[in-house]
Amino acid sequence: MKIGLAYDLKEAVGAAPGCPEDALEEYDSPETVEAIATALEPLGHSVVKLGGGREFITNILQNNIDFVFNISEGLGNHRSREAQVPAILEMLDIPYSGSDPQCLAICLDKPLTKRLVATAGIRTPRWQLVTDYSQLKEIPLDGFPLPAFVKPAYEGSSKGIRLGSRTETAAQIAEVAAELLEHYRQPVMVEEFIAGDEVPVGMVGNSPAKVLGIMRVLAKKSSAYFIYSLEVKREWEQLVDYECPAQLETGILEEIANSSLRVFKVLGCRDFARLDFKLSSEGVPYFLEINPLAGLNPKSGDLPIMANKLGWSYQTLISAILNAALQRYPQCVRG
Ligand SMILES: Nc1ncnc2c1ncn2[C@@H]1O[C@H](COP(=O)(O)OP(=O)(O)OP(=O)(O)O)[C@@H](O)[C@H]1O
Ligand SMILES: [Mg+2]
Repeated sequence: MKIGLAYDLKEAVGAAPGCPEDALEEYDSPETVEAIATALEPLGHSVVKLGGGREFITNILQNNIDFVFNISEGLGNHRSREAQVPAILEMLDIPYSGSDPQCLAICLDKPLTKRLVATAGIRTPRWQLVTDYSQLKEIPLDGFPLPAFVKPAYEGSSKGIRLGSRTETAAQIAEVAAELLEHYRQPVMVEEFIAGDEVPVGMVGNSPAKVLGIMRVLAKKSSAYFIYSLEVKREWEQLVDYECPAQLETGILEEIANSSLRVFKVLGCRDFARLDFKLSSEGVPYFLEINPLAGLNPKSGDLPIMANKLGWSYQTLISAILNAALQRYPQCVRG
């Protein structure tokens, strides 16, 4: 097959003047694109690098692509930006990997995702939304548990998330929320702070999807609480250890696995995803968010790290995602 790679490189997108220092954080590096190409070629495919944005549009129209392996994050700060490339591919009737535009658009919108997940009976931290400056004076905190975590509603890669995202007073909440409103130009979530373990979950496949693994992210230096913040994700080699399989009680692992399968299904995810859970201090799991376009950097991506710890090579992971997608498109498998 002739497989096109759709991706957005940091260097191709470029930062707009005045945007936050982490504006390009979710975009990929040439290393990730090379790694995926190198994993696909030995499977007998030829790989065409399509890039992102306008370059992607030109390339997809000019090349006769059978299938697109999609890791494109999309452009702008729109909550549906991850849906941009899959929507074009659906319009052109070109098969592609990963979730569809509707799923991707929902999952980047954390409050909407949490509403759907909560309706399905999965525990998620309490939250409220601040949509503009006028609300900052009177965020209704009556009965809202403090400390609270304050973060952008439509971001990933811990954009806008620092140690100071954990706030203890109404004044701190208003201060952090005001900064986020200004810099990220989108609603801000004020969420109940969940103090315990950080537990990402990897999922691969369809009908049934499978839990690839449940991991724990452990700070190398002990502190009162851990936040998997932007700083930590950038300096992960120095700051954290990854434990996979997570050494947690069987009952907790079962609940996380069952919740993950349910969330994947309720949100209509396909082929692969990574879910982020936190445990309370008492070990109760809370769903934070899901990444249907989980990062695939071979060294720093949580899903590849998890796969590696479980004895999967990077190529096995990429081919599992590809094979899951190809089951939807028998026309691609025939020849
Ligand atoms: N309610 C919360 N309570 C405690 N910690 C939180 C909470 N929300 C977020 N965090 C911390 O901040 C980290 C990043 O948050 P979140 O996963 O929502 O952001 P993200 O930008 O979508 O991340 P990514 O896309 O890289 O997974 C979490 O992994 C967790 O460590
Ligand atoms: Mg996350």
